[in-house]
Amino acid sequence: MIYGIGTDICDVRRIRASLEKHGDRFAAKVLSEGEFKTWKARSARWPERGVRYLATRFSAKEAFSKAIGLGMRMPMTWRLCEIDKLPSGAPFVVLHGGLKEWFEARSLSAHISVTDETDYAASFCVVETADAAFAGKSGL
Ligand SMILES: CC(C)(COP(=O)(O)OP(=O)(O)OC[C@H]1O[C@@H](n2cnc3c(N)ncnc32)[C@H](O)[C@@H]1OP(=O)(O)O)[C@@H](O)C(=O)NCCC(=O)NCCS
Repeated sequence: MIYGIGTDICDVRRIRASLEKHGDRFAAKVLSEGEFKTWKARSARWPERGVRYLATRFSAKEAFSKAIGLGMRMPMTWRLCEIDKLPSGAPFVVLHGGLKEWFEARSLSAHISVTDETDYAASFCVVETADAAFAGKSGL
């Protein structure tokens, strides 16, 4: 049963500008520990890949925050929501701490899809619930 859906479009140029202005501090605010390590490695090899990695994570987390109906409000935080990758390359959502507890208490599961083009990154997220009492209750 659908709990909620969320979408987001992110301007890659804004992410690049924030990185130029705030450096690692901006990435550390948006990325989980694991993501930050991946971002560092990618940025070291090719800075533009780091920018795009950060932009897709940014948009995926915003789309997820809308699908769960919280927006960027507790227990939803940037760093408690991680976007990982399956061996196939498909992204999936890994949650931590209070957000994970909140999510599991509602028997939720998430599906995330991300894309990027020259100047934009975009994401779409579907969150399901296995508990009929929570069906369609995102944002309520
Ligand atoms: C959801 C959120 C992360 C999106 O922020 P953004 O990147 O600046 O804006 P976007 O253009 O990507 O998305 C805006 C749309 O998100 C949707 N949205 C807003 N809050 C939402 C929520 N809690 N759940 C799902 N969708 C939400 C709305 O449709 C909104 O469009 P609208 O303003 O035309 O109604 C942000 O609005 C947020 O964190 N909201 C919760 C905290 C809050 O309300 N703060 C302000 C009051 S103190």
